[in-house]
Amino acid sequence: MLEVKGLKLTLNGKPVINGLNLEVKKGKIHGLLGVNGTGKTTLANLLMGIGYPDEGSIIFEGRDITKCTISERARMGITLAWQEPAKFEGLSIKEYLKLSRNLDSNESESYLWMVGLSPAEYLNRAVDVSLSGGERKRVELASVLAMKPKLAILDEPDSGIDVISLPHIMNGIVEMSKQGSAVLLITHSETGIEIANGVSVMCAGKIINTGAPEEMCQWFKNNCRTCDHIGEPGYEGA
Ligand SMILES: Nc1ncnc2c1ncn2[C@@H]1O[C@H](COP(=O)(O)OP(=O)(O)OP(=O)(O)O)[C@@H](O)[C@H]1O
Ligand SMILES: [Mg+2]
Repeated sequence: MLEVKGLKLTLNGKPVINGLNLEVKKGKIHGLLGVNGTGKTTLANLLMGIGYPDEGSIIFEGRDITKCTISERARMGITLAWQEPAKFEGLSIKEYLKLSRNLDSNESESYLWMVGLSPAEYLNRAVDVSLSGGERKRVELASVLAMKPKLAILDEPDSGIDVISLPHIMNGIVEMSKQGSAVLLITHSETGIEIANGVSVMCAGKIINTGAPEEMCQWFKNNCRTCDHIGEPGYEGA
């Protein structure tokens, strides 16, 4: 579904993405682990067409989309849930969910249930500062689920989510992959990464290891906690 080859991007003289290769398959959740500042959000942006790489290619469903705009990619079925969701002041949650597709009420309600929000309480709430950070993230994820994207790039969908609500979010993501979406799941959470089919560890703008979730989680803890290579151009892995 998605293939990234030799991606490079330098920002302010710093190689933020530094020769990155990655593959995400249809119907699979691919996890991405990496310490702060390693380039995960920058990669998510490049995949969505927010900025363009200096080198390398992004192939989606066999087509080179490296130079496609964000709206072209959105039309192809790629969507991104932001680490810090934007606020659409003035819309109700019901209206916000309908931005993705023309949903009927039952569908809108089912997507809210999927992220653990009661429709009776939330459908008519405004998408604004009155929502808590975690509620806002859950509304954002509900809208991604509602889009039924071919590729969902989720940048820390679990950050700021309490432990009770986390399983709801994770179930929603698993459900999306079962329905055929490919998911790139960026997360810092061990619980979050458990739902992935495969996991890559990212360091200083490149993938340095890929494997099964449990194995990669352990590898990440063993190798990345004490590593001081972050942001060091040319670092070739642990
Ligand atoms: N526009 C920019 N100009 C200069 N440096 C940037 C720019 N955008 C990002 N960076 C730098 O690139 C690096 C990667 O940032 P990025 O946001 O991709 O990290 P991340 O892996 O998502 O981190 P986190 O886990 O904290 O979300 C950081 O050092 C950041 O300061
Ligand atoms: Mg980030």
